Amino acid sequence: MKVDGTPTRTIWPVPSEGAPVAVRIIDQTRLPHAFVTVDLLTLEDAARAIADMLVRGAPLIGATAAYGMALAIREDASDGRLGAAYETLLATRPTAVNLRWALDEMMGALRPLREEERPAAAWRRAAAICDEDVEICRMIGVHGRPLIEEIAERKRARGQDPTVNVLTHCNAGWLATVDWGTATSPVYQAHDAGVAVHVWVDETRPRSQGAALTSWELLNHGVPHHLITDNSGGLLMMRGLVDLVIVGTDRTTAAGDVCNKIGTYLKALAAKDNGVPFYVALPSPTIDFRLTDGMDIPIEERSGDEVKWVHGRDSEGRDTRVLIAPEGTPAANHAFDVTPARLVTGLITERGVVAADRGAIAELFPDRAA
Ligand code: MRU
Repeated sequence: MKVDGTPTRTIWPVPSEGAPVAVRIIDQTRLPHAFVTVDLLTLEDAARAIADMLVRGAPLIGATAAYGMALAIREDASDGRLGAAYETLLATRPTAVNLRWALDEMMGALRPLREEERPAAAWRRAAAICDEDVEICRMIGVHGRPLIEEIAERKRARGQDPTVNVLTHCNAGWLATVDWGTATSPVYQAHDAGVAVHVWVDETRPRSQGAALTSWELLNHGVPHHLITDNSGGLLMMRGLVDLVIVGTDRTTAAGDVCNKIGTYLKALAAKDNGVPFYVALPSPTIDFRLTDGMDIPIEERSGDEVKWVHGRDSEGRDTRVLIAPEGTPAANHAFDVTPARLVTGLITERGVVAADRGAIAELFPDRAA
């Protein structure tokens, strides 16, 4: 997507004459007020960027981990170093399965090679993982765009304003991937094709990925949107102001239970009660074929400080943090929840839209399911 008119990905190697010298990322903790890039030079830099959420979003976590492996084996590409790097990166965040998927892809590509061949192969495989993610997300848009177009047509046929109102939660936009985003890809592609789309952006407490990141993306791309508090969706659905919900996912089981940012489940319940279609944009590396029950997905618990302290810019233009609860109040911070498959209207994948159902998912991805 474009930043100030320049096509930009969320992660890219910094080229030099030989192998890349670093991996450049956008520091998402500084958005929306400052666009700052950071160079990752070591395995530890990559691990810290994931754990501290300079990069976040399931596909981008995977891409960063892949490059983290390339950074890790620059000097020492032995089996021992590979294994240690794998464990360090895997421990950074527990919920998004793309992390394990990307690390397994890297191990599969590197282990069979001789040590001296591994560093160059690692840069190549990490770059390929990024390119594959871009194509997956583009195809999610290709398959998701007709859902938006059909609603616009239906509204027009009824003599209504054809603008399609999409509600989304968290940031499943291009910042969460390498490009395009998952939940936002159908929105961007519909908008670019001239379909009138408007997005309700959930603020997404506690880290406010909706307010800080999704709003910034949509504003940059010129997509009409409104930022709303996390509790507004139910009322908007009751009033007929939401035509469909599209969210992303950090891990979806083989049976279609969807784990995503905390608060997603409540939106799915409200959507079900109001007859609003609830779709999940799902890149296939986010499917965990080892699990069938969403309750088995590990839910990350982060520091309570993220609930009590809010980041922002004050009226003098200074970036600052403020405490919004009594200092002594303990806070719990469960980062994700699970939406059962029965509440999901469909999964928008790179191979098409499929029911959130074990048989249907296995039929669409026989290669992965096996
Ligand atoms: O904690 P985060 O910001 O990494 O959580 C991100 C989400 O929950 C996204 O919705 C999910 O990763 C899908 S990203 C395409």
